[in-house]
Amino acid sequence: MVQLAFLGFGVGQALFCRLYSTHYAMTVREILRMGDPRLLRTAQPVTEYDSDALHLLVSDLWDTMRAANGAGLAAPQIGEDWQLVVFGGTGRNPRYPDRPEVPATVLINPVITPLGDAQEEDWEGCLSVPGLRGLVPRPARIRYTGFDQYGDPIDRSVEGFHARVVQHECDHLWGRLYPTRMRDLTRLGFVDVMFPELAGLDDD
Ligand code: NI
Repeated sequence: MVQLAFLGFGVGQALFCRLYSTHYAMTVREILRMGDPRLLRTAQPVTEYDSDALHLLVSDLWDTMRAANGAGLAAPQIGEDWQLVVFGGTGRNPRYPDRPEVPATVLINPVITPLGDAQEEDWEGCLSVPGLRGLVPRPARIRYTGFDQYGDPIDRSVEGFHARVVQHECDHLWGRLYPTRMRDLTRLGFVDVMFPELAGLDDD
C-alpha cells in the first residue's frame, strides 16, 4: 500500500536544539534550489572529525533544516561540498501519527547497501524542489554505515520511512535529486494541486 510520507514535514523540538544552540548562534543558511549546478556535484569525503568547522557546519544544517520544517538536509543543499547529512529528530507529526519517528542523526561519509530486492513507492518532497511532490521508488530495506561528527561509527539496518529519508538525503551527496529517481513523471506535481488538503501548510 502506498502511504503518504512527506519528507518536508517536521516539528522541531528535539534535544539537539538545546545541545547545539548553547555553543553556536542560530544560523539559517540559504537552501539551493534545483537548477543550481552545486546540487549536481559528487561531494567530497570528510577527512577530519570533531573539528570546530565541522561542528559549525552541523549546527548550521540543523538550524536550517528546522527553520524550513524539513525532515533532513544535506550539506550540498547549503552549498557545502561535503559528504554530510542530518535528518530526523523532528518527533511525531500530529497530522501523520502513523509516520514512524526517525532518530536525530548526523551521518558523514555514508555507504548505503540495499537489503533484498524489495522496492517501495512513496511520495517525496525536497527543500531544494519547493512546492512539488513526486512518487519515488526506492529499496524498502537498507543498511547504512558512516560516522557521526565525532568520528564514531554508525551502522544501522532500517526500513520504511527511515530508509527513504536516508536514501533521499544521501542522494544529495551524489548529485541526485528525487525527480531523477522517478520512473513515471506523471506522478510529479505541485502539492497544492495533488493534495489540496495540505495547501497552505508551510512544509517545504
Ligand atoms: Ni532533498
